[in-house]
Amino acid sequence: MANIAVLSSGRGSNLQAIIDSVESGFIPRSRIVAVISDKEDAYALERAKSHKIEAIHLDPKAYMTRQEYDQKVADLLIKRKTDLILLAGYMRIVTPVLLNAFKNKVLNIHPALLPSFPGLCAQKQALEWGVKVTGCTVHFVDAEVDHGPIIIQAAVPVLEEDKEEDLAKRILEQEHLIYPQAIQWFVEGRLRIVDRRVKIRGVKQAGRALRVL
Ligand code: GRF
Repeated sequence: MANIAVLSSGRGSNLQAIIDSVESGFIPRSRIVAVISDKEDAYALERAKSHKIEAIHLDPKAYMTRQEYDQKVADLLIKRKTDLILLAGYMRIVTPVLLNAFKNKVLNIHPALLPSFPGLCAQKQALEWGVKVTGCTVHFVDAEVDHGPIIIQAAVPVLEEDKEEDLAKRILEQEHLIYPQAIQWFVEGRLRIVDRRVKIRGVKQAGRALRVL
């Protein structure tokens, strides 16, 4: 059984896709042991509670440094025998304190085709740059923001009439597909990092690790 923890700061639609995929068995032999949020009013915490998942609010103001905060997160997750940590709309930068405690066990989803448009407001950045294709990326987390080895990406076309929220909505639909897919591969033990590249055992990469609409 893989013990999964999700860190989220907001509405938690990716969390919901993950919960649904665990419940349906698409993500096999797994359970979500905790959802942690830095925001007390994060809807993600409500989603967790309604599925009887432990929901924990950890207030950053109670900690002197980001490292102390992450040590608390690490302690909680070690106690719950966590095998995999998923960042899903988690608005804090994760420090090596957490990453070293869970080496190559932290994943993130980003709403752009990395390495383009890292950081905040990726959909707005893509629109303003004028790209014709953007998308989303699931990657291993390393000490740099939106930087670690890429597991899967989905490409989404930018339409002439797109406003930021239109584009964000179409990207989000793909996020809800590729995050569960990456997690399935992880818990099935298919992922191996070789230099910066993620090898996916048993999967023909060209066909499966890139979704094109
Ligand atoms: C998503 O667009 C995700 O890619 C980004 O933050 C957003 C979170 O949305 N990291 P939600 O909370 O999962 O609905």
